[in-house]
Amino acid sequence: MQRRLPPTALSLLAARGGQWELVRDELRGSHWAEGAVVSLTRWVDNLTDVVAPAPWLRAELRPLAAGELGGLSQPQLVELVQWSDLILFDYLTANFDRLVSNLFSLQWDARVMQRATSNLHRAPDGGLVFIDHEAGLGHGYRLLAVWDKYNEPLLRSVCVFREATARRVAELHRLQNAAAELLRLYRTREPLSAQLGFLSEQQARLLQSRIDFVHKHILHCKAKAAAAL
Ligand SMILES: Nc1ncnc2c1ncn2[C@@H]1O[C@H](COP(=O)(O)OP(=O)(O)O)[C@@H](O)[C@H]1O
Ligand SMILES: [Mg+2]
Repeated sequence: MQRRLPPTALSLLAARGGQWELVRDELRGSHWAEGAVVSLTRWVDNLTDVVAPAPWLRAELRPLAAGELGGLSQPQLVELVQWSDLILFDYLTANFDRLVSNLFSLQWDARVMQRATSNLHRAPDGGLVFIDHEAGLGHGYRLLAVWDKYNEPLLRSVCVFREATARRVAELHRLQNAAAELLRLYRTREPLSAQLGFLSEQQARLLQSRIDFVHKHILHCKAKAAAAL
């Protein structure tokens, strides 16, 4: 997943000293306030824009039938499972600033799905790169009432998953420890974790229940595929 998600760390903006010294002039010209929390992320060279592939270009979302999959080439299948990883990830975090915001805009812009998807790019190796996760987790969960009606149909529109992803979801479902595991990673890897908050109890339960929901959906897709054989 690291190749898909450039690592990100938070930092406190300080006018003097430390890592900010090198960009002092740029900082002076910006309107960033001292003490603001900013996120730093690894730069990926030569990113290009990405448009959603065919299954998500229609306004009416429906999963590809097993028969349709047979007609896809290997590169198309590789692309498809990357999109299914993306949709699954955005469902778990309730991120509304990628496909979901496009689905919302379909109300007045019929061609929105044919435009570049925000916060998503393609690396020179062809792989998708997910950036800017501001609209996910805490923020996404706070705005569920507005956006969740798009998240669920989007998840239901994918019925093909990478085996490793399905295994990891099954494990997080079995262990029922998703939020605790996330908190452990946050405390060990995020330099500002001691000064900043984490998910509320309710949001932590929501994360687990979304994992359980995804797990159920994957089982449903497995059963459907087995029945079609
Ligand atoms: N890690 C990165 N590597 C290369 N380019 C990036 C990276 N992160 C962001 N960008 C570029 O900056 C643009 C804006 O980034 P983003 O994080 O989405 O900020 P915002 O939406 O707040 O303006 C992206 O569309 C992309 O072109
Ligand atoms: Mg952005």
